[in-house]
Amino acid sequence: MIAHVEIDQQIDGAGRGGCVPFHLLHVIDDGHRASGRDARDLRGIAERRGEQNAWNRVLRHQFRFGDRGDGDSASAVRDLPPRDLDALVRFGVWAELLAGLFYLLRHALEVGVKKIGIEEKRGRGDLIFREHLNYDKAVLAPVPVVSGSNRISALRPTAVNAILAEMRTLQAQGKSLISLMRGEPDFPTPAHIVEASIRALRDGRTSYPDNRGEKGFRDAAALKLERDNGLKFDPATEVLATTGATLGVYAALMAMLNAGDEVLLPDPVYDAYQSPIRMAGGRVKPVRSEIREGRFMITEEALEHAWSPAAKALVLNTPWNPVGTVFRGEELETVAAFCERRNLFLISDEIYEAITYGEVRHLSPLAVTPSLRERCVLINTLSKTYSMTGWRVGYCAGPAPLIQAMLLVLAQSSRGPATFVQDAAAVALTSSQDCVAAMREEYARRRAEVIGQLNGVRVIAPEGGFFAMVDVRESRIPSDEIRRRLLHEHGVVVVHGAAYGEVGEGTLRVSFASGGETLTRGLERLREGLTR
Ligand SMILES: Cc1ncc(COP(=O)(O)O)c(C=O)c1O
Repeated sequence: MIAHVEIDQQIDGAGRGGCVPFHLLHVIDDGHRASGRDARDLRGIAERRGEQNAWNRVLRHQFRFGDRGDGDSASAVRDLPPRDLDALVRFGVWAELLAGLFYLLRHALEVGVKKIGIEEKRGRGDLIFREHLNYDKAVLAPVPVVSGSNRISALRPTAVNAILAEMRTLQAQGKSLISLMRGEPDFPTPAHIVEASIRALRDGRTSYPDNRGEKGFRDAAALKLERDNGLKFDPATEVLATTGATLGVYAALMAMLNAGDEVLLPDPVYDAYQSPIRMAGGRVKPVRSEIREGRFMITEEALEHAWSPAAKALVLNTPWNPVGTVFRGEELETVAAFCERRNLFLISDEIYEAITYGEVRHLSPLAVTPSLRERCVLINTLSKTYSMTGWRVGYCAGPAPLIQAMLLVLAQSSRGPATFVQDAAAVALTSSQDCVAAMREEYARRRAEVIGQLNGVRVIAPEGGFFAMVDVRESRIPSDEIRRRLLHEHGVVVVHGAAYGEVGEGTLRVSFASGGETLTRGLERLREGLTR
């Protein structure tokens, strides 16, 4: 546990409607914060326990004033030398009174304030400083030189990253493993895209990119969206370049959420949505899916069941990782009607759009229901379609005010993909799409191999994407236990369905993003492990 005293007064500049008002004199303990009096009591506990040294370290407080209005006038004074605690506490009490007045004033000013067309909801986080410390649990541990952020405690590594760490340990011990785990295409990036990036480098395209995205790339994305998805976006105001889909999802959530807002997520779904939701102050609300006629799907009842007045957004992923469903037109209409009825943002992650099988085709929710326009942000990336995972380049399209808000978020973090990468990405989107068709054909071949090789095992054949779900519910053994057995006893790596949500329990995600020997031998091990 980390305990430290912090005076942290964050004033939201000019009452412009941000969601972090003031945090005053906190003792931070496992996410709990206490007022000045609590701090005094805590010192008493420390003294009684003879932990004066620890307390002295606690006094290495941070003393910080920040103007969070627009960041322009932010200033910080940190690491002042330790000072007398009573003075500190007195100051804290006065400051808290002052802050209380300011808070009331700001509330009065903010009545009726609208942010990007959505009425602002005030979240729990605003009053977090009123929460009290649980003294019984308080242990005054030495304060690390860098004190950690409470925000971080809400973040988790993805299942894939956790399993990768496990794999590396076993491999270091000499174990041979075959991975059918990652969503990483094994194709080289098509040569004409690589050449375009080399050309751009030679042409000196190495300076800062436009934070919104280079014009050429935004134009290319707008062209692609019209060509493939039937959607018209203004590349000047409605398209944003992102560092992969990951930053698109992050920026969308940061732009949409206030503390305590709920984000509806299909269950099971790509687990990396969870941490950015929490980082943005939101809470995850699962929408339970069902397996009907051999495919995972979501009903209107499930959506309504998950909804509460705190709901702010729904994330939809079609084709859907990990389950492989491609949402049909009428299903998308149901989702759209729900979002409109309940006044929700829709974050539409369409990154597997190019990988569909048989007669199934990807449909963009916005193309099915154009009235979603003001509430829908489309997320896409070149990672999967063009086998460009390491290039870190993607794009978003949505209503101009939302894209502008997302740009403000990204301007504080990645500031867009490298200029020459965007040039190559523009070539990828606008030149011949034969490479995409060739990869799709190869995925179709691999999909057939998975289904054929895993005879005797129930496989939920995907309609899109490059993952197949193996249904092991009949075994009644937790999916993580089966995954571990497969890893340790059979040397094959898959992801347990429970990592993607409660409904995923009883399934295993098998990736065929890698083919060839890896897939063939991996499937042999998997079949052996599952049918033994
Ligand atoms: C559904 C989904 N969304 C987003 C991402 C992240 O994509 P990117 O590599 O472009 O950041 C992934 C990656 O696996 C994914 O499966």
